[in-house]
Amino acid sequence: MKVFQEINSPLRTIMTPGPVEVDPRVLRAMSTPILGQFDPAFTNMMNETMEMLRQVFQTKNQWAFPVDGTSRAGIEAVLCSVIEPGDKVLIPIFGRFGHLLTEIAERNGAEIHNIECEWGTVFDQQVIIDEMKRVKPKVLAIVHGETSTGCMQPLDMIGPACRELDVLCIVDAVATIGGTEVKVDEWQLDAVIGGTQKCLSVPSGMAPITYNDRVEQVLSVRKKVEKGVATEQDKVDVQQPIRSNYFDLSQLQDYWGPRRLNHHTEATSMLYALREGVRIVLQEGLNERFARHRFHEKALMEGIKAMGLTLFNDVPWKLPMVTCVNIPAGVDGDSVRMMLLQQFGIEIASSFGPLHGKIWRIGSMGYSCRKENILFVLAALEAVLIRHDASIEVGKGLQAALDVYESSNLVVN
Ligand SMILES: Cc1ncc(COP(=O)(O)O)c(C=O)c1O
Repeated sequence: MKVFQEINSPLRTIMTPGPVEVDPRVLRAMSTPILGQFDPAFTNMMNETMEMLRQVFQTKNQWAFPVDGTSRAGIEAVLCSVIEPGDKVLIPIFGRFGHLLTEIAERNGAEIHNIECEWGTVFDQQVIIDEMKRVKPKVLAIVHGETSTGCMQPLDMIGPACRELDVLCIVDAVATIGGTEVKVDEWQLDAVIGGTQKCLSVPSGMAPITYNDRVEQVLSVRKKVEKGVATEQDKVDVQQPIRSNYFDLSQLQDYWGPRRLNHHTEATSMLYALREGVRIVLQEGLNERFARHRFHEKALMEGIKAMGLTLFNDVPWKLPMVTCVNIPAGVDGDSVRMMLLQQFGIEIASSFGPLHGKIWRIGSMGYSCRKENILFVLAALEAVLIRHDASIEVGKGLQAALDVYESSNLVVN
């Protein structure tokens, strides 16, 4: 019989757009003993987590809680609770995750309206607003930070336009939450989904979400329909109950809210992890954390450029925590990634769809976004590129990054 050894996972430097390295304090919190889900000690932690999530989402919404499952569980919960068959949903696509929103909305019976722009660009907000005026959708679903292209879609005009046009604005902020501004209330976003395994530096397995009373109104009418108590007036906008049990936000909010109605068994250790993750974010300070991401991004970008490489996303709409490097002609991108992993224990990412084989994506998110990691990845990349006969400026990358670090009074690690 085969004897299985205990897990002995190698130590890695993870510089991908997720999952990233988990803060050791989060790992410690995960080994805290299990509590029953209705133990006041545990429900108190649930309440504290909601309170801290509101601050991270910069919202006064009552509802801010995690959905158990990976980030797409949060997306699916919001979309399946809001969309009913035949609803018009507008989804602008500027990378892979716009397709994910489309697929989930489609599976919930939405009448899909897509607009697309070239990967590597984002939309002029007015283009989306004009399309909303033309299509008159019930929902606009859009990605904030596209990890597949390293681009960030501005939303500050889109949210208020949705409010004016009576469209529900649902945003995938999986990559951006905890790493850059996601101003839920100021931008008037109706529902926002965050990710744990990226800038929050918590393992994958939960999706923090928030939504406002405009979304709650839809949920409450769908519940009335389910119970057969909806009025004719209610049924003008909503005709069907929510089909999913696991992702029914009206049930989830009854579980997270003061009623504490039993739904699923909360994922105890993940809740500990999320609570510690958001506590660390707030302890650092949102503005300080966003500035840290920008600062290390600068060092990384300067280092890459000084090496003689070019960036795919050196654009004003660059996603601060994802730096996409054009793979030099004649270099096998996968072989470079493999050597980084095997010789240095560093992981960077390839890309999808039209960008596959053309760019590497280097993440600098959350706990992985540290000086030692930036310098290590630059040093290792240079060494590996020399081994791949790439023509680069030897010795310049690290110096450029060090110039950035030495030019600042910011104390960073
Ligand atoms: C922008 C964005 N949205 C959604 C997802 C899906 O998240 P998950 O794989 O955790 O379900 C990802 C994952 O990489 C992402 O980057």
